[in-house]
Amino acid sequence: MLNIPSLPTMDEKTLEKAIKEAVDVNRHYLDEFTDDFKYSHSESNFYAKSENVEWTTGFWTGELWLSYELSGDDAFRNAALRQVHSFAERIKNRVDVEHHDMGFLYSPSCVAAYKLTGSEEGKSAALAAADNLISRFQEKGQFLQAWGRNGDRNEHRLIIDCLLNLPLLFWATETTGDDKYRTIAEKHLSTAIRYVLRPDNSTYHTYYFDPDTGEALRGVTAQGNRNGSAWARGQAWGVYGAALAYRYTKSEISLDVFRRALSFFLSHLPADVIPYWDFDFDNPSTEPRDSSALAIVICGMLEASNYVEKDEKDKLEDQAKRLLRALYEKCAVHDPSVSDGLLLHGTYARKSEWNTCNNRGVDECNLWGDYYYLEALRRCKGKWEMYW
Ligand code: GLY
Repeated sequence: MLNIPSLPTMDEKTLEKAIKEAVDVNRHYLDEFTDDFKYSHSESNFYAKSENVEWTTGFWTGELWLSYELSGDDAFRNAALRQVHSFAERIKNRVDVEHHDMGFLYSPSCVAAYKLTGSEEGKSAALAAADNLISRFQEKGQFLQAWGRNGDRNEHRLIIDCLLNLPLLFWATETTGDDKYRTIAEKHLSTAIRYVLRPDNSTYHTYYFDPDTGEALRGVTAQGNRNGSAWARGQAWGVYGAALAYRYTKSEISLDVFRRALSFFLSHLPADVIPYWDFDFDNPSTEPRDSSALAIVICGMLEASNYVEKDEKDKLEDQAKRLLRALYEKCAVHDPSVSDGLLLHGTYARKSEWNTCNNRGVDECNLWGDYYYLEALRRCKGKWEMYW
């Protein structure tokens, strides 16, 4: 059984080493991935080039911003700003934006650009993305439709991942003074919290509603092992998403969801800390891990530590740093010849008897794992104005 207090912590020396290694990998591959983006996940630990499509490219631009913050190297800033232009073109031309992942795409790229450099192009692109996201709000059921053509009756569902898209809406209200973004974010949040969290503190990945009446119908998995299981990354989105929701709403319910989802996640980690891709799998198992889920949860713990009383804060920070050290020791890339990513042993999607996935990015790097690992390192360096 995992005993977190017995793990070594992320001390200052190891933190500096981890940051240097990560920034060096990103610098090494910067020219290759400035005008081209990285594909969502690696093959044999190296990323193919990609156009600015899918829900994942914002993480690479976010890594460039984090690398810029951590190193002061203008090469990262300049590359990130070029990519911000690509994001502005993407939303203007509506390239692969018929889905809810506007926050994943536009917070770490364009909101970050605005916060770090005052980029007006970043600001207006992020606001356009927020407008696109609120257009997916469904009155019947009171949620943001995740996937498919807006209003498609067969896709009348929310997914837990969307909690990470809500900060874009809260930021849009803060930036414009227009309450419409926040109002929709709060409605979605309240629906999501009500239905995705189960009594045992595990979570559903997706939840369907009746398109005619809005009645809540059923929880169904898309990427988990089965409908009733806890997909590790879904649980992680719940943890970090609830912490971010508290940041913007200060509602005790969000903090309660954070604590409950976290307690399930931590109590289902295997002895070597790196979660299997679904918590159906116990320790030991031959099933693959999803390192990205742990990186996401560490960020959520460090975010929530800003809002709680001292005892809980100290505990969250202490646990987060020990988990981050384990992630570093077991999954981090230390040398650019090994990989052009930062975090090994992620799983994008794993086929099971009960889900509709094909195996994709199994035991590979993925862009969000790399990003959240670097965000966690940045958070450990001290006060951070987050991109979310
Ligand atoms: N948001 C999609 C995923 O986590 O795979």
